[in-house]
Amino acid sequence: MSDIILGIESSCDDTSAAVIRDGWLLSNVIASQEVHRAFGGVVPELASRAHEQNIVPVVSEALSRAGVAASDLTAIAFTRGPGLLGSLLVGTSFAKALGLALDIPLVMVNHLQGHILAGFVKEEGVPVVQPSFPYLCLLVSGGNSQIVRVDSPTEFVILGQTIDDAVGEAFDKCSKMMGLGYPGGPIIDKLAAQGDASRFKFAKPHIPGLDYSFSGVKTSLLYFVRDEMARDPEFMEKNKADICASFQKTLIDILMDKLVKAAKQTGIREIAIGGGVSANSGLRARVQEEGRRRGWKTYLPAFKFTTDNAAMIAIAGWYHYLAGERTGLDVAPVSRMADF
Ligand code: KG4
Repeated sequence: MSDIILGIESSCDDTSAAVIRDGWLLSNVIASQEVHRAFGGVVPELASRAHEQNIVPVVSEALSRAGVAASDLTAIAFTRGPGLLGSLLVGTSFAKALGLALDIPLVMVNHLQGHILAGFVKEEGVPVVQPSFPYLCLLVSGGNSQIVRVDSPTEFVILGQTIDDAVGEAFDKCSKMMGLGYPGGPIIDKLAAQGDASRFKFAKPHIPGLDYSFSGVKTSLLYFVRDEMARDPEFMEKNKADICASFQKTLIDILMDKLVKAAKQTGIREIAIGGGVSANSGLRARVQEEGRRRGWKTYLPAFKFTTDNAAMIAIAGWYHYLAGERTGLDVAPVSRMADF
């Protein structure tokens, strides 16, 4: 008999539901919340309210696109955390209510493990290319920057992580500071493609081991733009492509230095990336380039699986389900990774 898993994701500003059968994707519906754009960042209260409005239609649509009735479901996988607590509460409470009504098991999923396993979602007509275990995953999003050793679909060891800002946060905050808009990653990525990455230099951190830091480079950009603008108020407008290209290259250099170090230390040559920032074209190109040079096998997620989606929650939940894990109705969401 096959396992049909409903995945529910509501950790930030995307309400998503997906259905997979034995790891094959049947549907993946995402309702993104445009309401935050005007505020230059996610407003937690508005996100929770939008999730509450979206969750029922999004789940109904996912079941209908999958051609599956609620009564066919084997289990419900949901994001328990980390994320915004009010947002997580909507998905968690909905999963509990539906699980209780259908009398089927619940499986909680760590959102970050979902990002890491996004490449394991199988799709009809798409060749199955998956890393073998153990592999290293550079997990880069708006909330985290980590190098994770993945020993199996349910065993993860964090080798290094940011001690301050996440790399996505550096993209977003710097974009806002330069007046370019939100979310900053895709905007800087696009402008960087037209710029000269060697034109400006920004400070790189010196952090021991495999940990990251992105607050220094952010400050370095802030002071640079402030000083140049004092000399020429048009500076930003005239040079934004070169600034974005140079800034993006600095962030990618920082990420890659530690990834190369981790690969050398562990001897692992299976290298994947995941999370929202893994959509960055400069990072994708660099990972492939380093891979060719160093004899790595590299795995880049499909663009649609780089940002928050429930397909990755469903696949991660399925592996936990297969491992016999079940979540009780007394489960509560957690906002921080440390609480997981
Ligand atoms: O994984 P994600 O959707 O949300 C979580 O943080 O969980 O990641 C969102 C982050 C944002 O910081 C956004 O600016 C960044 O991913 N991002 C990008 C790109 N697309 C999204 N950063 C750099 N280049 C991109 N093309």
